[in-house]
Amino acid sequence: MTFRLRVWRQPNAKAKGKLVDYDASDIPANASFLEMLDILNERLLLRGEDPIAFDSDCREGICGTCCLTINGEPHGPDHPGAACELYMRKFRDGETITVEPFRVKSFPIIKDLVVDRGALDRILQAGGFISARAGSAPEANSILVPKTNADLAMEAAACIGCGACAAACPNASAMLFTAAKVSHLASLPQGHPERATRVLKMVRAMDAEGFGNCTNTYECEAVCPAEISASFIAKLNREYARASLRRG
Ligand code: SF4
Ligand code: FES
Repeated sequence: MTFRLRVWRQPNAKAKGKLVDYDASDIPANASFLEMLDILNERLLLRGEDPIAFDSDCREGICGTCCLTINGEPHGPDHPGAACELYMRKFRDGETITVEPFRVKSFPIIKDLVVDRGALDRILQAGGFISARAGSAPEANSILVPKTNADLAMEAAACIGCGACAAACPNASAMLFTAAKVSHLASLPQGHPERATRVLKMVRAMDAEGFGNCTNTYECEAVCPAEISASFIAKLNREYARASLRRG
């Protein structure tokens, strides 16, 4: 297959970026999007040009590092799935494909398609540790967890921390991410001792990082590779309200 790529090139955080055109010919239809970029980069290196910087690690939808905006959509057109799970057969032969980094003020561009998503790590860090005893395998039946709660916690824990929710949101809100992380531990007994302080600290950190607030556009849910439901945002709001009232 052959594609015309328009790729965001920006040498460093301070430089002005621009879209640069590349021809990507002889690309196998079964190549993943990242493999297509690898092929293009090998050709750029052979020509003595600077390869396109982009992030990836697991390449199987687990780590959340492949933060690409493809034709205007975080993670591209094949939802649900991360950019690394997207295959070139999803596009038309000869199609023009625009590739940009995630566009969020709180995710500064480092180079080309690589952004700094440390803001999400700092929200997690603000939540702190749980005080449950660790170091040995717990007796499986000593803390009973209702199946519905366990399922809810598992659904929330599926968040891979990619930040696509913030990239898709017109308010650059990270509430789906924060809601998933808060709900995960709030649904389990092990997360209860710090439940109130955790949500207050994480929401405060989210605001301090400059993310916006949710106005129910559901763009986050539409692009989330882990299919985190926007209903978790309602749970986050309930957790936050309850913690604020208890504190007051
Ligand atoms: S909620 Fe979804 S889109 Fe947001 S960080 Fe988690 S996995 Fe990514
Ligand atoms: S490279 Fe890990 S989720 Fe895409």
